[in-house]
Amino acid sequence: MTHHPQILLIDDEVESNRSLSTLLTRDGYRVKSTQTAEEAFALLKKTTFDLIISDLLLPGVSGIDILKQVKVDFPQTSVILITGNASAETAVEAMKAGALDYISKPFNFERLRIQVAKALEKNRLVSENRYLRQQLHGRYRFHNIIGSSQAMQHVFIRMEKVAATDSTILILGASGTGKELVAKAIHYNSPRAEYPFVAINCGAIPADLLESELFGHIKGSFTSAVADKPGKFELANGGTLFLDEIGNMPLQLQMKLLRVLQEHECERVGSSRKIHLNIRLISATNIDLDEQVKSGQFREDLYYRLNVIPIQLPPLRERRGDIALLSRHFLEKTCREMKRKPISISTAALQAMENYPWPGNVRELENVIERTVALTDNSSIACEDLPPDIASQCPMARISAPEVSPQGIDLNQMMADIERQLIQQALELGQGVKARAAVLLNINRTTLVEKIKRLSIENP
Ligand SMILES: Nc1ncnc2c1ncn2[C@@H]1O[C@H](COP(=O)(O)OP(=O)(O)OP(=O)(O)O)[C@@H](O)[C@H]1O
Ligand SMILES: [Mg+2]
Repeated sequence: MTHHPQILLIDDEVESNRSLSTLLTRDGYRVKSTQTAEEAFALLKKTTFDLIISDLLLPGVSGIDILKQVKVDFPQTSVILITGNASAETAVEAMKAGALDYISKPFNFERLRIQVAKALEKNRLVSENRYLRQQLHGRYRFHNIIGSSQAMQHVFIRMEKVAATDSTILILGASGTGKELVAKAIHYNSPRAEYPFVAINCGAIPADLLESELFGHIKGSFTSAVADKPGKFELANGGTLFLDEIGNMPLQLQMKLLRVLQEHECERVGSSRKIHLNIRLISATNIDLDEQVKSGQFREDLYYRLNVIPIQLPPLRERRGDIALLSRHFLEKTCREMKRKPISISTAALQAMENYPWPGNVRELENVIERTVALTDNSSIACEDLPPDIASQCPMARISAPEVSPQGIDLNQMMADIERQLIQQALELGQGVKARAAVLLNINRTTLVEKIKRLSIENP
Protein backbone atom coordinates (compact mmCIF):
# COMPACT_ATOMS: atom_id res chain seq x y z
CA MET A 1 0.00 0.00 0.00
CA THR A 2 1.35 3.38 -0.96
CA HIS A 3 1.72 6.15 1.55
CA HIS A 4 -0.47 9.20 0.90
CA PRO A 5 1.29 12.13 2.51
CA GLN A 6 -0.81 14.30 4.81
CA ILE A 7 -0.70 18.04 4.35
CA LEU A 8 -2.09 20.68 6.71
CA LEU A 9 -3.06 24.09 5.34
CA ILE A 10 -3.20 27.10 7.66
CA ASP A 11 -4.61 30.28 6.15
CA ASP A 12 -7.30 32.64 7.34
CA GLU A 13 -8.34 33.29 3.73
CA VAL A 14 -10.90 30.61 3.04
CA GLU A 15 -10.61 31.02 -0.71
CA SER A 16 -6.88 30.47 -0.71
CA ASN A 17 -7.25 27.32 1.41
CA ARG A 18 -9.91 25.97 -0.91
CA SER A 19 -7.96 26.38 -4.11
CA LEU A 20 -4.80 24.87 -2.63
CA SER A 21 -6.76 22.02 -1.13
CA THR A 22 -8.43 21.18 -4.46
CA LEU A 23 -5.15 21.17 -6.29
CA LEU A 24 -3.28 19.05 -3.76
CA THR A 25 -6.12 16.57 -3.29
CA ARG A 26 -6.16 16.06 -7.03
CA ASP A 27 -2.45 15.19 -6.83
CA GLY A 28 -3.23 12.39 -4.39
CA TYR A 29 -2.40 14.09 -1.08
CA ARG A 30 -4.63 13.95 1.98
CA VAL A 31 -5.32 17.55 2.89
CA LYS A 32 -6.79 19.26 5.97
CA SER A 33 -7.44 23.01 6.16
CA THR A 34 -7.60 25.26 9.19
CA GLN A 35 -7.88 28.99 9.65
CA THR A 36 -6.20 29.49 13.00
CA ALA A 37 -3.02 28.42 14.75
CA GLU A 38 -4.94 27.00 17.73
CA GLU A 39 -6.98 24.74 15.49
CA ALA A 40 -3.81 23.69 13.69
CA PHE A 41 -2.01 22.65 16.89
CA ALA A 42 -5.08 20.78 18.10
CA LEU A 43 -4.98 18.80 14.84
CA LEU A 44 -1.22 18.28 15.01
CA LYS A 45 -1.59 16.67 18.42
CA LYS A 46 -3.96 14.08 16.95
CA THR A 47 -2.46 13.37 13.53
CA THR A 48 1.03 13.25 12.12
CA PHE A 49 1.36 15.56 9.16
CA ASP A 50 4.17 15.34 6.67
CA LEU A 51 3.93 18.94 5.60
CA ILE A 52 2.38 22.19 6.77
CA ILE A 53 1.70 25.03 4.36
CA SER A 54 1.00 28.11 6.44
CA ASP A 55 0.32 31.73 5.68
CA LEU A 56 2.96 34.04 7.08
CA LEU A 57 0.42 36.56 8.33
CA LEU A 58 -2.36 35.14 10.46
CA PRO A 59 -4.53 37.12 12.85
CA GLY A 60 -2.62 37.55 16.11
CA VAL A 61 0.27 35.23 15.31
CA SER A 62 3.02 35.08 12.74
CA GLY A 63 3.74 32.07 10.57
CA ILE A 64 7.33 32.22 11.85
CA ASP A 65 6.10 31.57 15.41
CA ILE A 66 4.05 28.62 14.20
CA LEU A 67 7.11 27.38 12.38
CA LYS A 68 9.33 27.63 15.48
CA GLN A 69 6.78 25.82 17.65
CA VAL A 70 6.39 23.07 15.06
CA LYS A 71 10.18 22.62 14.94
CA VAL A 72 10.13 21.98 18.69
CA ASP A 73 6.98 19.88 19.06
CA PHE A 74 6.74 18.07 15.74
CA PRO A 75 10.25 18.00 14.30
CA GLN A 76 9.29 15.41 11.66
CA THR A 77 6.86 17.81 10.00
CA SER A 78 8.19 20.13 7.27
CA VAL A 79 6.91 23.65 6.87
CA ILE A 80 6.44 25.81 3.79
CA LEU A 81 5.37 29.40 4.38
CA ILE A 82 3.16 31.43 2.10
CA THR A 83 4.49 34.96 1.88
CA GLY A 84 1.64 37.13 0.65
CA ASN A 85 3.58 40.25 -0.18
CA ALA A 86 6.92 38.57 0.10
CA SER A 87 9.74 40.84 0.96
CA ALA A 88 13.17 39.34 0.69
CA GLU A 89 13.79 39.73 4.44
CA THR A 90 10.74 37.80 5.58
CA ALA A 91 11.67 35.03 3.20
CA VAL A 92 15.19 34.94 4.61
CA GLU A 93 13.84 35.00 8.15
CA ALA A 94 11.52 32.11 7.36
CA MET A 95 14.34 30.00 5.96
CA LYS A 96 16.55 30.81 8.95
CA ALA A 97 13.86 29.65 11.34
CA GLY A 98 13.82 26.32 9.58
CA ALA A 99 11.21 26.63 6.84
CA LEU A 100 11.91 24.27 3.98
CA ASP A 101 10.72 26.73 1.40
CA TYR A 102 8.38 29.63 0.89
CA ILE A 103 5.83 30.31 -1.81
CA SER A 104 4.39 33.61 -2.85
CA LYS A 105 0.87 34.64 -3.70
CA PRO A 106 -0.71 34.61 -6.17
CA PHE A 107 0.08 30.92 -6.52
CA ASN A 108 1.95 29.58 -9.48
CA PHE A 109 0.37 26.13 -9.36
CA GLU A 110 3.03 24.38 -11.42
CA ARG A 111 5.83 25.70 -9.28
CA LEU A 112 3.89 24.94 -6.10
CA ARG A 113 3.42 21.32 -7.10
CA ILE A 114 7.16 20.91 -7.56
CA GLN A 115 7.90 22.59 -4.22
CA VAL A 116 5.49 20.30 -2.38
CA ALA A 117 6.87 17.18 -4.06
CA LYS A 118 10.42 18.26 -3.20
CA ALA A 119 9.55 18.95 0.43
CA LEU A 120 8.00 15.52 0.83
CA GLU A 121 10.90 13.82 -0.91
CA LYS A 122 13.31 15.51 1.48
CA ASN A 123 11.19 14.28 4.40
CA ARG A 124 11.35 10.76 3.10
CA LEU A 125 15.12 10.90 2.69
CA VAL A 126 15.64 12.30 6.16
CA SER A 127 13.58 9.61 7.85
CA GLU A 128 15.16 6.88 5.74
CA ASN A 129 18.57 8.21 6.67
CA ARG A 130 17.69 8.25 10.35
CA TYR A 131 16.44 4.70 10.13
CA LEU A 132 19.59 3.47 8.37
CA ARG A 133 21.78 5.23 10.86
CA GLN A 134 19.97 3.54 13.73
CA GLN A 135 20.28 0.17 12.04
CA LEU A 136 23.96 0.72 11.56
CA HIS A 137 24.60 1.70 15.15
CA GLY A 138 22.34 -1.02 16.48
CA ARG A 139 24.17 -2.83 19.19
CA TYR A 140 27.14 -0.48 19.19
CA ARG A 141 25.01 2.46 20.18
CA PHE A 142 26.63 2.88 23.55
CA HIS A 143 30.14 2.02 22.41
CA ASN A 144 31.79 4.68 24.59
CA ILE A 145 30.36 3.18 27.77
CA ILE A 146 32.56 0.32 28.85
CA GLY A 147 31.29 -2.65 30.82
CA SER A 148 30.87 -6.36 30.36
CA SER A 149 29.72 -7.10 33.90
CA GLN A 150 26.18 -8.37 34.46
CA ALA A 151 25.31 -5.16 36.24
CA MET A 152 26.34 -3.01 33.25
CA GLN A 153 24.59 -5.33 30.80
CA HIS A 154 21.37 -4.63 32.70
CA VAL A 155 22.06 -0.93 32.42
CA PHE A 156 22.55 -1.21 28.64
CA ILE A 157 19.34 -3.18 28.20
CA ARG A 158 17.39 -0.56 30.08
CA MET A 159 19.02 2.31 28.17
CA GLU A 160 18.18 0.55 24.93
CA LYS A 161 14.55 0.31 25.96
CA VAL A 162 14.08 3.90 27.03
CA ALA A 163 16.21 5.74 24.47
CA ALA A 164 13.47 5.93 21.85
CA THR A 165 10.78 7.04 24.31
CA ASP A 166 10.11 10.31 26.07
CA SER A 167 10.04 8.71 29.54
CA THR A 168 11.36 10.58 32.53
CA ILE A 169 14.48 8.91 33.88
CA LEU A 170 16.19 8.97 37.27
CA ILE A 171 19.83 7.86 37.31
CA LEU A 172 21.11 6.68 40.66
CA GLY A 173 24.70 5.97 41.56
CA ALA A 174 27.68 7.03 43.63
CA SER A 175 29.99 9.79 42.55
CA GLY A 176 31.96 8.98 39.38
CA THR A 177 29.90 5.96 38.32
CA GLY A 178 28.99 7.50 34.95
CA LYS A 179 25.62 9.14 35.55
CA GLU A 180 26.22 12.05 33.19
CA LEU A 181 27.75 9.76 30.57
CA VAL A 182 24.63 7.60 30.61
CA ALA A 183 22.32 10.62 30.46
CA LYS A 184 24.14 11.94 27.38
CA ALA A 185 24.18 8.55 25.69
CA ILE A 186 20.42 8.28 26.12
CA HIS A 187 19.90 11.73 24.65
CA TYR A 188 22.17 11.18 21.65
CA ASN A 189 20.46 7.89 20.89
CA SER A 190 16.97 9.36 21.13
CA PRO A 191 14.82 11.05 18.48
CA ARG A 192 15.77 14.31 20.20
CA ALA A 193 19.45 13.89 19.32
CA GLU A 194 19.50 16.88 17.00
CA TYR A 195 18.08 19.14 19.71
CA PRO A 196 20.04 20.40 22.71
CA PHE A 197 21.23 18.39 25.70
CA VAL A 198 21.33 20.89 28.54
CA ALA A 199 22.78 20.00 31.94
CA ILE A 200 22.48 21.88 35.20
CA ASN A 201 24.01 20.94 38.52
CA CYS A 202 21.41 21.73 41.15
CA GLY A 203 23.94 21.22 43.92
CA ALA A 204 26.55 23.66 42.64
CA ILE A 205 24.37 26.75 42.30
CA PRO A 206 23.32 28.84 45.32
CA ALA A 207 19.62 28.37 46.08
CA ASP A 208 18.67 31.97 45.35
CA LEU A 209 20.22 31.84 41.86
CA LEU A 210 18.99 28.40 40.94
CA GLU A 211 15.46 29.50 40.15
CA SER A 212 16.54 32.00 37.53
CA GLU A 213 19.10 29.54 36.14
CA LEU A 214 16.32 27.00 35.64
CA PHE A 215 13.54 29.23 34.41
CA GLY A 216 15.29 32.41 33.24
CA HIS A 217 14.44 35.96 34.18
CA ILE A 218 13.55 39.28 32.63
CA LYS A 219 15.52 42.45 32.96
CA GLY A 220 14.98 44.19 36.29
CA SER A 221 13.26 41.27 38.01
CA PHE A 222 15.98 41.43 40.66
CA THR A 223 18.98 43.66 41.27
CA SER A 224 21.55 41.80 39.24
CA ALA A 225 19.16 41.00 36.39
CA VAL A 226 20.55 43.51 33.92
CA ALA A 227 19.17 41.81 30.83
CA ASP A 228 16.61 39.19 29.82
CA LYS A 229 17.95 35.69 30.15
CA PRO A 230 16.46 32.37 29.11
CA GLY A 231 16.52 29.51 31.62
CA LYS A 232 17.86 26.00 31.12
CA PHE A 233 14.33 24.71 30.59
CA GLU A 234 13.86 27.06 27.65
CA LEU A 235 17.30 26.29 26.24
CA ALA A 236 16.58 22.58 26.34
CA ASN A 237 13.28 22.89 24.50
CA GLY A 238 12.88 20.12 21.96
CA GLY A 239 15.77 18.22 23.56
CA THR A 240 16.77 16.81 26.93
CA LEU A 241 17.22 18.57 30.27
CA PHE A 242 19.62 16.90 32.70
CA LEU A 243 19.05 17.90 36.32
CA ASP A 244 22.17 16.73 38.09
CA GLU A 245 22.33 16.32 41.88
CA ILE A 246 18.58 16.70 42.08
CA GLY A 247 18.73 15.62 45.73
CA ASN A 248 20.23 19.01 46.55
CA MET A 249 17.35 20.99 45.10
CA PRO A 250 16.07 23.38 47.80
CA LEU A 251 12.59 22.53 49.10
CA GLN A 252 11.02 25.80 48.07
CA LEU A 253 12.05 25.19 44.45
CA GLN A 254 10.87 21.59 44.44
CA MET A 255 7.27 22.80 44.51
CA LYS A 256 7.81 25.04 41.51
CA LEU A 257 9.64 22.33 39.60
CA LEU A 258 6.77 19.93 40.18
CA ARG A 259 4.28 22.45 38.82
CA VAL A 260 6.36 23.06 35.71
CA LEU A 261 6.63 19.34 35.07
CA GLN A 262 2.90 18.87 35.48
CA GLU A 263 1.89 21.78 33.30
CA HIS A 264 4.61 21.56 30.65
CA GLU A 265 4.90 25.32 30.93
CA CYS A 266 7.14 27.75 32.70
CA GLU A 267 7.57 31.49 33.10
CA ARG A 268 10.76 33.48 33.43
CA VAL A 269 11.25 35.07 36.84
CA GLY A 270 9.48 38.45 36.74
CA SER A 271 7.36 37.59 33.73
CA SER A 272 3.93 36.05 33.35
CA ARG A 273 4.32 34.95 29.75
CA LYS A 274 3.91 31.17 29.60
CA ILE A 275 6.53 29.24 27.69
CA HIS A 276 5.38 25.94 26.33
CA LEU A 277 7.86 23.14 27.07
CA ASN A 278 8.58 19.95 25.21
CA ILE A 279 11.51 18.30 26.94
CA ARG A 280 12.67 14.87 28.05
CA LEU A 281 13.79 15.08 31.66
CA ILE A 282 16.65 13.05 33.07
CA SER A 283 17.69 13.62 36.66
CA ALA A 284 20.51 12.13 38.67
CA THR A 285 21.55 11.87 42.27
CA ASN A 286 24.22 10.22 44.38
CA ILE A 287 22.25 10.51 47.59
CA ASP A 288 19.49 8.24 48.81
CA LEU A 289 16.29 10.01 47.78
CA ASP A 290 14.16 7.51 49.69
CA GLU A 291 15.89 8.67 52.85
CA GLN A 292 15.49 12.32 51.87
CA VAL A 293 11.77 11.76 51.38
CA LYS A 294 11.46 10.07 54.77
CA SER A 295 13.29 12.89 56.52
CA GLY A 296 11.17 15.51 54.77
CA GLN A 297 13.98 17.04 52.72
CA PHE A 298 12.56 15.91 49.41
CA ARG A 299 8.94 16.14 48.31
CA GLU A 300 7.39 12.73 47.84
CA ASP A 301 5.17 13.83 44.93
CA LEU A 302 8.20 15.22 43.06
CA TYR A 303 10.14 12.03 43.76
CA TYR A 304 7.41 9.95 42.09
CA ARG A 305 7.26 12.36 39.19
CA LEU A 306 11.03 12.06 38.59
CA ASN A 307 11.43 8.37 39.32
CA VAL A 308 9.44 6.97 36.42
CA ILE A 309 12.28 4.83 35.09
CA PRO A 310 15.19 4.32 37.48
CA ILE A 311 18.64 3.38 36.20
CA GLN A 312 20.99 2.23 38.94
CA LEU A 313 24.72 2.46 38.27
CA PRO A 314 26.65 0.04 40.47
CA PRO A 315 29.84 1.17 42.22
CA LEU A 316 33.04 -0.07 40.58
CA ARG A 317 33.96 -2.36 43.48
CA GLU A 318 30.79 -4.33 42.73
CA ARG A 319 31.85 -4.96 39.14
CA ARG A 320 35.52 -5.76 39.42
CA GLY A 321 35.36 -7.60 36.14
CA ASP A 322 35.09 -4.22 34.39
CA ILE A 323 38.28 -2.83 35.92
CA ALA A 324 40.65 -4.41 33.40
CA LEU A 325 38.47 -3.31 30.47
CA LEU A 326 38.19 0.22 31.78
CA SER A 327 41.93 0.43 32.52
CA ARG A 328 42.84 -0.63 28.98
CA HIS A 329 40.20 1.71 27.54
CA PHE A 330 41.57 4.74 29.41
CA LEU A 331 45.17 3.72 28.70
CA GLU A 332 44.50 3.66 25.02
CA LYS A 333 42.56 6.92 25.16
CA THR A 334 45.21 8.73 27.23
CA CYS A 335 48.07 7.59 25.00
CA ARG A 336 46.15 8.73 21.96
CA GLU A 337 45.46 12.12 23.53
CA MET A 338 49.05 12.54 24.71
CA LYS A 339 50.30 11.36 21.31
CA ARG A 340 52.32 8.55 22.87
CA LYS A 341 53.01 5.02 21.73
CA PRO A 342 50.51 2.54 23.20
CA ILE A 343 51.39 1.53 26.77
CA SER A 344 50.36 -1.79 28.30
CA ILE A 345 49.73 -2.66 31.91
CA SER A 346 51.43 -5.47 33.81
CA THR A 347 49.38 -8.27 35.32
CA ALA A 348 50.56 -7.37 38.80
CA ALA A 349 49.55 -3.73 38.36
CA LEU A 350 46.21 -4.82 37.01
CA GLN A 351 45.68 -7.09 39.99
CA ALA A 352 46.40 -4.19 42.29
CA MET A 353 43.83 -2.12 40.41
CA GLU A 354 41.34 -4.95 40.78
CA ASN A 355 41.92 -5.21 44.52
CA TYR A 356 41.64 -1.51 45.23
CA PRO A 357 38.16 -0.40 46.46
CA TRP A 358 37.77 2.68 44.17
CA PRO A 359 35.77 5.05 46.38
CA GLY A 360 35.77 7.55 43.48
CA ASN A 361 34.64 4.89 41.00
CA VAL A 362 35.29 5.23 37.26
CA ARG A 363 36.29 8.87 37.48
CA GLU A 364 39.03 7.98 39.98
CA LEU A 365 40.23 5.14 37.77
CA GLU A 366 40.36 7.46 34.77
CA ASN A 367 42.40 10.01 36.74
CA VAL A 368 44.79 7.36 38.05
CA ILE A 369 45.51 6.15 34.52
CA GLU A 370 46.03 9.67 33.21
CA ARG A 371 48.38 10.57 36.02
CA THR A 372 50.29 7.31 35.73
CA VAL A 373 50.77 7.64 31.99
CA ALA A 374 51.93 11.22 32.38
CA LEU A 375 54.54 10.27 34.97
CA THR A 376 55.97 7.04 33.59
CA ASP A 377 58.51 6.43 30.84
CA ASN A 378 57.92 2.68 30.84
CA SER A 379 56.17 0.97 27.96
CA SER A 380 54.23 -1.15 30.46
CA ILE A 381 52.77 0.14 33.69
CA ALA A 382 54.25 -1.64 36.67
CA CYS A 383 53.20 -1.59 40.31
CA GLU A 384 55.78 1.08 41.15
CA ASP A 385 54.13 3.42 38.67
CA LEU A 386 50.84 3.38 40.54
CA PRO A 387 49.86 5.77 43.36
CA PRO A 388 50.82 4.38 46.81
CA ASP A 389 47.25 3.50 47.85
CA ILE A 390 46.91 1.24 44.86
CA ALA A 391 50.51 0.01 44.71
CA SER A 392 50.04 -1.32 48.25
CA GLN A 393 47.52 -3.75 46.77
CA CYS A 394 50.21 -5.23 44.54
CA PRO A 395 50.69 -8.99 44.83
CA MET A 396 54.33 -8.70 45.92
CA ALA A 397 53.46 -6.26 48.69
CA ARG A 398 50.86 -8.65 49.98
CA ILE A 399 53.20 -11.64 49.94
CA SER A 400 55.79 -9.84 52.01
CA ALA A 401 53.80 -10.16 55.20
CA PRO A 402 51.63 -13.24 55.28
CA GLU A 403 50.10 -13.72 58.66
CA VAL A 404 48.12 -16.31 60.50
CA SER A 405 45.11 -14.41 61.76
CA PRO A 406 43.37 -15.33 65.05
CA GLN A 407 40.47 -16.67 62.97
CA GLY A 408 42.89 -18.99 61.20
CA ILE A 409 43.89 -19.13 57.54
CA ASP A 410 43.60 -21.53 54.64
CA LEU A 411 47.19 -22.56 54.06
CA ASN A 412 46.57 -24.31 50.75
CA GLN A 413 44.62 -21.36 49.42
CA MET A 414 47.29 -18.94 50.55
CA MET A 415 50.13 -20.98 49.05
CA ALA A 416 48.18 -21.24 45.79
CA ASP A 417 47.71 -17.46 45.77
CA ILE A 418 51.40 -16.87 46.32
CA GLU A 419 52.29 -19.42 43.66
CA ARG A 420 49.90 -17.82 41.21
CA GLN A 421 51.32 -14.36 41.79
CA LEU A 422 54.92 -15.47 41.40
CA ILE A 423 54.16 -17.39 38.21
CA GLN A 424 52.33 -14.40 36.78
CA GLN A 425 55.31 -12.18 37.46
CA ALA A 426 57.72 -14.65 35.94
CA LEU A 427 55.56 -14.89 32.82
CA GLU A 428 55.59 -11.15 32.57
CA LEU A 429 59.33 -10.85 33.00
CA GLY A 430 59.73 -13.55 30.38
CA GLN A 431 57.36 -11.67 28.09
CA GLY A 432 54.94 -14.55 28.04
CA VAL A 433 57.50 -17.14 26.94
CA LYS A 434 56.95 -20.12 29.24
CA ALA A 435 60.48 -21.50 28.84
CA ARG A 436 61.95 -18.22 30.10
CA ALA A 437 59.50 -18.03 33.00
CA ALA A 438 60.41 -21.60 33.95
CA VAL A 439 64.10 -20.65 34.07
CA LEU A 440 63.29 -17.66 36.29
CA LEU A 441 61.38 -19.90 38.69
CA ASN A 442 63.90 -22.67 38.51
CA ILE A 443 61.32 -25.31 37.57
CA ASN A 444 60.68 -27.47 34.50
CA ARG A 445 58.72 -26.04 31.63
CA THR A 446 56.25 -28.96 31.87
CA THR A 447 55.79 -28.36 35.61
CA LEU A 448 55.09 -24.72 34.85
CA VAL A 449 52.53 -25.64 32.20
CA GLU A 450 50.79 -27.94 34.70
CA LYS A 451 50.72 -25.24 37.36
CA ILE A 452 49.38 -22.67 34.92
CA LYS A 453 46.56 -25.04 34.12
CA ARG A 454 45.83 -26.04 37.71
CA LEU A 455 45.86 -22.44 38.97
CA SER A 456 43.97 -21.26 35.86
CA ILE A 457 46.46 -18.51 35.21
CA GLU A 458 45.97 -16.31 32.18
CA ASN A 459 49.06 -15.98 30.08
CA PRO A 460 49.46 -12.33 29.07
N1 LIG B 1 31.28 2.78 31.99
C1 LIG B 1 32.11 3.76 31.62
N2 LIG B 1 32.85 3.64 30.51
C2 LIG B 1 33.70 4.64 30.15
N3 LIG B 1 33.87 5.77 30.82
C3 LIG B 1 33.15 5.95 31.94
C4 LIG B 1 32.22 4.96 32.40
N4 LIG B 1 31.65 5.43 33.52
C5 LIG B 1 32.17 6.63 33.75
N5 LIG B 1 33.08 6.98 32.82
C6 LIG B 1 33.89 8.20 32.79
O1 LIG B 1 34.15 8.56 34.13
C7 LIG B 1 34.04 9.95 34.34
C8 LIG B 1 32.95 10.23 35.35
O2 LIG B 1 31.68 9.94 34.81
P1 LIG B 1 30.41 10.88 35.04
O3 LIG B 1 30.81 12.32 35.09
O4 LIG B 1 29.37 10.50 34.07
O5 LIG B 1 30.04 10.39 36.52
P2 LIG B 1 28.92 10.90 37.51
O6 LIG B 1 28.22 9.70 38.02
O7 LIG B 1 28.10 11.95 36.84
O8 LIG B 1 29.78 11.50 38.68
P3 LIG B 1 29.41 12.65 39.79
O9 LIG B 1 28.36 12.08 40.68
O10 LIG B 1 30.70 12.87 40.48
O11 LIG B 1 28.94 13.84 39.01
C9 LIG B 1 33.74 10.56 32.97
O12 LIG B 1 34.93 10.98 32.39
C10 LIG B 1 33.14 9.39 32.20
O13 LIG B 1 33.39 9.54 30.84
MG1 LIG C 1 27.92 13.99 37.33
